[in-house]
Amino acid sequence: MASSDQIRLLVVEDVPQVAQYIRNLLNTQALVKLLDIVTDGGRIVADIAELRPDIVVIDALLQGKTRAPAVLEMVRQSGNSLPVILLTVPQTPIKPDPNRGIHAVLTMPFSGYDLLTAINQVKADFDAGSSEATSQLIAVFGPKGGVGRTTLAFNLAVSLGQLGRKTVLIDGSIQYGDLRGLLKVPPDAPSILDLPTDRVAQSDLQDTLWRDPSGIDILMAPPRIEQAEMLTVRDVEKVLSILRRVYPMIVIDMSAAINDINLCFLDNATTILQIATYESMAVRNVAAVTETFRAIGYPESKLRFVVNRADSAGGMSPELLARAIGRQPDHLVQSDGRLVVASNNEGVPFVLAQPDAPISRDVRAIAVQLADLPRVPAAAGRR
Ligand SMILES: Nc1ncnc2c1ncn2[C@@H]1O[C@H](COP(=O)(O)OP(=O)(O)OP(=O)(O)O)[C@@H](O)[C@H]1O
Ligand SMILES: [Mg+2]
Repeated sequence: MASSDQIRLLVVEDVPQVAQYIRNLLNTQALVKLLDIVTDGGRIVADIAELRPDIVVIDALLQGKTRAPAVLEMVRQSGNSLPVILLTVPQTPIKPDPNRGIHAVLTMPFSGYDLLTAINQVKADFDAGSSEATSQLIAVFGPKGGVGRTTLAFNLAVSLGQLGRKTVLIDGSIQYGDLRGLLKVPPDAPSILDLPTDRVAQSDLQDTLWRDPSGIDILMAPPRIEQAEMLTVRDVEKVLSILRRVYPMIVIDMSAAINDINLCFLDNATTILQIATYESMAVRNVAAVTETFRAIGYPESKLRFVVNRADSAGGMSPELLARAIGRQPDHLVQSDGRLVVASNNEGVPFVLAQPDAPISRDVRAIAVQLADLPRVPAAAGRR
């Protein structure tokens, strides 16, 4: 195993026998690199700065001048956001409490297996949690069919990939699987339903994602309409959680419905990119759903508006849309029927087929702005 994959461990333990026991347990494996076992918890901040551990193990029963709660607090205050495993004895039970910086507790006597399992688990959970907070989840939504969600979601995801962001596109049009159609994916290509429902592992993703030649990975919708019913909100939550560990950018092509699955996508989104056109029915629906989003409690910063085919207003004043949504739209995308239809029919993104076309520049501009948004966790809203 490459040393960069090793988990770096710092231990604070003042009982020599226990220290030696831990040394022996870790002696015969390469997964964990034992950096040091220090006896004085008072120096923990300096030790962390010098040794750069991934995890700190602290004996909860330290007898020295600096007791375990103080050491724990120093680790928390050190600004390194490090997970801690506490060691205790059966007579002094302690519960893990990540809010207090205690990510796991090991009760003595523990085996080498117990120790390694705890270390692995804490590292995996901690990595997942910290990357979850920094993934952008962009829900490409529009409360009216045919406004260009699938086209824009695909081209936007490819543009984000081109900007160097590792991007996954989720076909969230669960019933019709629009991306399956767009990309002419064979019916037996795996879908979101092929991921195990109980404990999805990262390795399961490798077999399930569609690797598009455009450089992005795509999680397909089920191949048949009636299979959409098999997908639960719980499944979707789990899938999003695991994708967040791997991808800093997640784009979802959604359907127009407001149902439980779509609300799950919307709740989890860091940005809802709402697609509208200058058509009275589209404007009416966008106004209605935007009111609902505000009533739900989604913050304004989570909502962004794209006008697609913005140069074909058909006589409608752009002000009508601005009034309906209570602000100016954030992005405009030009109409280009020839390029869009030809690219969609070939299943290639127009941003790659004709990068200099005005519509490609428009989509790239959205990608650039989204890529630069501050990395915030999904906003509260209904959660
Ligand atoms: N900017 C554009 N210029 C010209 N044509 C466009 C543009 N955007 C989308 N289209 C066309 O509009 C049609 C609908 O696009 P798309 O399927 O992406 O919309 P959708 O919102 O996903 O629709 P659905 O309701 O089927 O999910 C397609 O024929 C597409 O080629
Ligand atoms: Mg669609």
